Amino acid sequence: MVNSSKIPVIAIDGPSASGKGTVARLVAQRLGFHFLDSGALYRLVTLAAIKAGIELDEEAALARLVATLDVRFENDDVFSNQELVTDAIRAEQIGVGASQMAALPAVRTALLARQRAFRQPPGLVADGRDMGSVVFPDAALKIYLTADVEERARRRHKQLIEKGMDDNMTTLLQDIRARDERDRARAVAPLQKSDDASVLDTTRLTIDAAVEQVLARYAVAKRVP
Ligand code: DC
Repeated sequence: MVNSSKIPVIAIDGPSASGKGTVARLVAQRLGFHFLDSGALYRLVTLAAIKAGIELDEEAALARLVATLDVRFENDDVFSNQELVTDAIRAEQIGVGASQMAALPAVRTALLARQRAFRQPPGLVADGRDMGSVVFPDAALKIYLTADVEERARRRHKQLIEKGMDDNMTTLLQDIRARDERDRARAVAPLQKSDDASVLDTTRLTIDAAVEQVLARYAVAKRVP
């Protein structure tokens, strides 16, 4: 049995549409590490709740749903109950619903064990709000990836268009601002940079440059016991 606290974790937190998903995935590939997209888990719970007719404020019912949720990540795809849901969970209204549901303590607690199970050799890159602050507080490296809100709206817009789901830029900007606000203001695991996280502002960085930055910081962190 491997002592899981010895398995290195790189935690990448930050606001919505900061590019953290893309950067985290590429860092995991470069290091041959596993990858946890925690936002996808929250989105998946939201989609499953809507399908099951559970309201997004029914805390106990949602926590029970988490316990029984069938989820499988395979390469870049997400499956739930054998159904491919990769694109469905990316819809903007699922993100908004996930942000509302994520404020419920029982749901977050139910998701803790499921997230920690991803910590497997040789290592894990974990992407999401509270990865460094709550889920993996002993991570070897904690990055807080951010970008200006306008730049984040532009990136989300481009992403949605590529998926054939157009959305209005003004609405998107409002959505992202509202989501930042809700994620920051919530009582449980709010969006915040932990004191031991190192900030990486990607407003003017290409994805490749951001990946190199994370790898360089990890190389330094590894040398410091
Ligand atoms: O990163 P994302 O947009 O896919 O996440 C969707 C929502 O899920 C986000 O608005 C807040 C919530 N979330 C969370 O509260 N904690 C996480 N670790 C990941 C996501």
